[in-house]
Amino acid sequence: MNAPITVKRLGEDASKFVAKEKKLFIDGQWVPSANGRTIDVIDPATGMIFDRVPDGASEDIDKAVAAARKAFDDGPWATMTPADRGKLVWRLGDLVEKHADELAQLEALDNGKPVTDARMGDVTFSYELLRYMAGWSTKITGQTIPLSSGAPFHAYTLREPVGVCGQIVPWNFSFMMAVWKVAPALAAGCTIVLKPAEQTPLTALRLAELVEEAGFPAGVFNVVTGLGETAGAALAAHPDVDKVAFTGSTEVGKKILDAAKGNLKKVSLELGGKSPMIVFADADPSVAIPAIGYGIFYNMGQTCTAGTRLYVHKDIAPTILAGLKDFAAKMTIGVGLDPATQIGPLVSQEQFDRVRGYIQAGLDDGATLLCGGGRFGAEGYFLEPTILTETEPHMSVVREEIFGPVLVVATFDDDGFEEIVREANNSIYGLAASVFTRDVSRAHKVAKKLKAGTIGVNTHHVIDPALPFGGFNQSGWGREQGYEAILLYTEVKSVGVAL
Ligand code: NAI
Ligand code: MG
Repeated sequence: MNAPITVKRLGEDASKFVAKEKKLFIDGQWVPSANGRTIDVIDPATGMIFDRVPDGASEDIDKAVAAARKAFDDGPWATMTPADRGKLVWRLGDLVEKHADELAQLEALDNGKPVTDARMGDVTFSYELLRYMAGWSTKITGQTIPLSSGAPFHAYTLREPVGVCGQIVPWNFSFMMAVWKVAPALAAGCTIVLKPAEQTPLTALRLAELVEEAGFPAGVFNVVTGLGETAGAALAAHPDVDKVAFTGSTEVGKKILDAAKGNLKKVSLELGGKSPMIVFADADPSVAIPAIGYGIFYNMGQTCTAGTRLYVHKDIAPTILAGLKDFAAKMTIGVGLDPATQIGPLVSQEQFDRVRGYIQAGLDDGATLLCGGGRFGAEGYFLEPTILTETEPHMSVVREEIFGPVLVVATFDDDGFEEIVREANNSIYGLAASVFTRDVSRAHKVAKKLKAGTIGVNTHHVIDPALPFGGFNQSGWGREQGYEAILLYTEVKSVGVAL
């Protein structure tokens, strides 16, 4: 294989990892896929193949689920104390931190994202989350419950791990999405079969190496790389999987639900978004402009919570739009592995074509191009940060998740907020939203009215290991992060003792 030029930018550890033959991690062993086939791994900055991973499918999923089942039912994991489990999860966090630069480079190469963002965002968040969740291991409790009927029972609840978890994650924050699911599941005492996205499988395999190094018992954590329609579908439908956790498109989220029906496994879903940002006339432009700029362009807009719809009061619109145009023009576009890069390529040709299709549809529908819209450079999947103004509620660019660096703007002249909040809420999604104003009272009232799982006031991306994260409407089911994530990976059992 002729390595693309970007691979030469990797540090020594990441290079060594890329050079290794990739296998599946099942029951503590590294094994090839049963069918012997592989999937090409493509560098989005050049469009070149630089690695291959096993094309795992249903037979491999069966083996991985059997290993996870055995580890859950009979292995040392089943009887391990919460304190020891917590220590392992903490140790995994330490190992992720120790290898943070390497992981960030692998992510930047595989996904295309800026390595600085990967290091400061994805990887840092991941080790902090592992430690946060490690702390929960020893704090998962039931309750004693005084019976309402006065029946002569001593009654209490136990909170127990839900069992074998299938976890299917996307390519936009591949490592971090994996850790979002893996950390609480391990802390709760579950076992895992992880299926990373076919576009970005590398960091999940590196995570498996770190799980091995941390000393988790065999079978507790398994990784099967493969395609969504084969490996993913087999995992979601598997009768011996107790819970499936999915992050990805709303379309596939609905397929996961169908697949889960067979054994009524528990389901949590973190799906698409079309998050609004509302800027009132009294907003501070020096706060709003960078928050909106990062709100949409961070990770090239390939972020489920991306602030994609901007509603700006007409009195402040010229200032905000001029500021955003300038913000976009100053972003450094380049290969993800360059530490100065702020905008890397989109993840794939497919995503590049999809986003360009949306931009064209917006223009055909009558939107105005304020900036961007074009391809950057001659190779790879680079797209300029793009802003479309004068958009209307019916346009596909306003209604649908674009998942690219495209902001759609509309102005309003309502001095109250009811009308504009109604427009902001006019979406099938409800993942995030933000409001920019210096009026504290209005900020709280609007935060209460917006239908979304996370609200930012004078900021857009609000995320922390301790803060529940998830969606209203078709943005999903359940909340990850915080204690809410522990609830997703546990079941409650009621016990009554006749006295
Ligand atoms: P996708 O939803 O198809 O992929 C996400 C994960 O689901 C991957 O691991 C994939 O292998 C798996 N998958 C796909 N089909 C499956 C099936 N039938 N059963 C089980 N697993 C399956 O997302 P895709 O196609 O990569 O991107 C399409 C659009 O989805 C994007 O343009 C974006 O709008 C949205 N998306 C949203 C994400 C989010 O974080 N909310 C993440 C990725 C994509
Ligand atoms: Mg898909």
